[in-house]
Amino acid sequence: MKKDLKIFTGSSNPELAKKICAHAGIKLGKCETVKFSNENLKVRILESVRGKDVYVVQSSCPPVNENIMELLIMIDAIKHAKADSITAVLPYYPYARSDKKDEPRISITARLVADLLETSGADRVMTMNLHSPQIAGFFRIPVDHLLAGKLICKYYKEKAGIENCVVVAPDAGSAKRAGIYAISLGLPLAILDKRRNDDSENAKVHHVIGDVKGKRALIFDDEIATGGSILEVVKALESLGVKEIEACCVHAVLSGKAVERLGNSSLSRLVVTDTVTIPPEKRIRKMVVLSVAPLFAKAIAFSNRGSSISGLFGKI
Ligand code: R5P
Repeated sequence: MKKDLKIFTGSSNPELAKKICAHAGIKLGKCETVKFSNENLKVRILESVRGKDVYVVQSSCPPVNENIMELLIMIDAIKHAKADSITAVLPYYPYARSDKKDEPRISITARLVADLLETSGADRVMTMNLHSPQIAGFFRIPVDHLLAGKLICKYYKEKAGIENCVVVAPDAGSAKRAGIYAISLGLPLAILDKRRNDDSENAKVHHVIGDVKGKRALIFDDEIATGGSILEVVKALESLGVKEIEACCVHAVLSGKAVERLGNSSLSRLVVTDTVTIPPEKRIRKMVVLSVAPLFAKAIAFSNRGSSISGLFGKI
């Protein structure tokens, strides 16, 4: 049964939240965040949420840690204002790459974020293209894991074209998902053996499996942060004689020197989505931004009326 629905946003990506509301045909809920001189935050929900099905949109954008805290405070405030149910909508999940204990005495911080969300009072989580799908298992509450693959494939089939293309998986970890892109686009697949030996953000490509010579390479990755991984792949592909190189990354984190490095690279197109806020100074000419707002609006509407949302997405 359809319940009364409200959508609120934190400070991280209000543009996306507004677009989601426009697609869902509802007004964005009113709230305010005050930051005190001691850096403490106060969130005030400015309309009643009693008995409502509430969705709070907050992505992992800078300042990441402050935005996590703001989200937790918002959920707590909404819980104590007697909402019926609260869904934390995290288009880009915070600390997604801290998903394993691959060194002694470190935190699996993606799991810690899950614990914090549950403790704050979230009843459900909605997120997109998790770095590893297993993160959903860190929660004891339901997680709707949305995927942007269909949207990206639609863009390639209908707008950018796929003639003479090969799908490139930048590392072994992304080979399975890239393989599904390849099947969905009806294209061959090449896999790079990329290894990262430390936290220095420098990855190295050692081998390439598949035929890329003379082709237009489409690299698929879940996120682009410093751009180091993509540029290493670009370098390896160039040395193998590809004709043109494009990259598709769902989350445009674009940290450090990414914008400058990508702008100066031979990459001809970078397809990203708006899960993360992209300020004007980061919008380089070769960038195409696809909006995930219609997808989130549909998923929220389906979840609100208790319909299955799995049919909305493919496997990528
Ligand atoms: C790594 O496993 C991820 O899928 C991305 O390749 C990585 O997060 C990109 O980071 P950067 O752009 O800093 O190389």
